[in-house]
Amino acid sequence: MSKVTVVGAGNVGATCANVLAHKDIVNEVVLIDIKGDLARGKALDSWQQAPIDYYSTRLMGTEDYKDTAGSDIVVITAGIPRKPGMSRDDLISTNAKIVTSVTNSIMEHSENPIIIVVSNPLDVMTYAAHKASGLPSSRVFGMAGILDTARYRAFLASALNVSPKDIQAVLMGGHGDTMVPLPRYTTVAGIPVKEMIDDETLDAIVERTKSGGGELVKLMGTSAWYAPGAAAAQMVEAIVKNENRIYPCCALLNGEYGLKDIFLGVPVKLGKGGIEELLELKLTADEMELLTTSAGHVRSVMDVFDNMQ
Ligand code: LAC
Repeated sequence: MSKVTVVGAGNVGATCANVLAHKDIVNEVVLIDIKGDLARGKALDSWQQAPIDYYSTRLMGTEDYKDTAGSDIVVITAGIPRKPGMSRDDLISTNAKIVTSVTNSIMEHSENPIIIVVSNPLDVMTYAAHKASGLPSSRVFGMAGILDTARYRAFLASALNVSPKDIQAVLMGGHGDTMVPLPRYTTVAGIPVKEMIDDETLDAIVERTKSGGGELVKLMGTSAWYAPGAAAAQMVEAIVKNENRIYPCCALLNGEYGLKDIFLGVPVKLGKGGIEELLELKLTADEMELLTTSAGHVRSVMDVFDNMQ
């Protein structure tokens, strides 16, 4: 008996709603957008797919936040996407206002939702939503790590000619060029990846992963949506089913990894209460240095946000 609201009926929001409906694990998905007809149209199109693909999840589109009342989970994808040549950080002035106002509207109608932020710059938009919501940090977190590890896993699966299902990996840090893929925590069906691949190929895959979003922006003139939408839906699934899945998510750190008061990608356990546990890995000095650099970058964008207030 769950109600999920997806804010933003653009490519990522609509994909998330559609993938979620296919999972058939929630009663209702509300797709909300300032362009109400776009939300209504995409929700109706998705609902008309239900008899074909066999799901019972109801979808509705709206521009009215009253329709989001009593949401258990809210996925925020609202905001503008990148264009070629832009970094995610270039979006902050526009998207900070949007994410803050969306969060305020959500909180007017839902008492204690779990909020998953997808808008960019991801880490700082999660910070913005957390601030505006007043919710505990276990209930406000961001989607990026699942997407970034998915890209890394997909590249590895291609290079090794194995199923992507067999690649397990951890990736930490901010959702940007400073993200930290961790080959030491990467396995192929349990086999350490370094036993399967040479250093040069692995290094190239790590680099390609870091600019994986930018590669797609260059190809399409806008940012990606299939994998981002599906990644957000997977987080919803872990919560709705109380799965205690371990995923890299953007979470508020409170001393873990020697970092405090910063939203950053780290492995967490996702269950019915949102973040049930934050995992602290024993990083090497080199890995820690990369994470600290990434945190420094996120901190600088958080400062830009704070100065806007
Ligand atoms: C990406 C966007 C969604 O990485 O940040 O594709």
